[in-house]
Amino acid sequence: MRTPLVAGNWKLHGSRESVVALADALRDGAENAAVEIAVCPSFVHLAEVGAALRGSAVALGAQDCAAQQQGAFTGEVAAAMLAEYGCRYAIVGHSERRSLFGDSDALVAEKFAAAQRAGLTPILCLGEQLAEREAAATESVLGRQLGAVLDTLGVAAFESAVIAYEPVWAIGTGVTASPEQAQAAHAYIRGQLAARDAAVAAGLRILYGGSVKPDNAAQLFACADIDGGLIGGASLVAEDFLNICRAAG
Ligand code: PGA
Repeated sequence: MRTPLVAGNWKLHGSRESVVALADALRDGAENAAVEIAVCPSFVHLAEVGAALRGSAVALGAQDCAAQQQGAFTGEVAAAMLAEYGCRYAIVGHSERRSLFGDSDALVAEKFAAAQRAGLTPILCLGEQLAEREAAATESVLGRQLGAVLDTLGVAAFESAVIAYEPVWAIGTGVTASPEQAQAAHAYIRGQLAARDAAVAAGLRILYGGSVKPDNAAQLFACADIDGGLIGGASLVAEDFLNICRAAG
């Protein structure tokens, strides 16, 4: 069966000192965890967080990666660089990248491919805006975002990938999708993949993200198609994040 994954997205937070302290606390607290755990600090913190986590049960991930491998692309960080720093995962297509920095569906697909080329496992984020949900467009948005990757890279690309369903209206708002809403979206995503390859769909981990907290994690993770979480705010507090990890185990 699918081993749950709980990944912390630290976003634009932390100092050198605070992220190492957080990593130390997670390393100690994650011993004997029943789930896979990862954290995604900012690029500049990867080396020190990676060093603090070395040999622990907590994997390292990045919050984004460049679509390009190298060249005149000022400000970008290549997936191969992230692999060299010990990353196992790279988030691609986070809604903040899509809405604030203009990452298009096509660019997200290129980043997904770039991550895999470098040996990283992409965590592909999908999710609808509030207006899209209210217009009953959730499935068409998810289908379009997923299709951009599926149609260019094929279903086999999802053999070594993770998807995170993150309804934009639930991210950082304190409003969580109900377990029923989340499960429906996850089942839709898995169904889209199953239509192309049932085995790939059955093996794929689909995480839920959006205001997951220690007190709502267990009921979300109990849903059949929810295989862990992508955690923002609550991943910045070691005990909260560890309690969320325990709820997934
Ligand atoms: P949140 O963020 O848990 O703070 O809502 C989730 C995310 O953006 O990945």
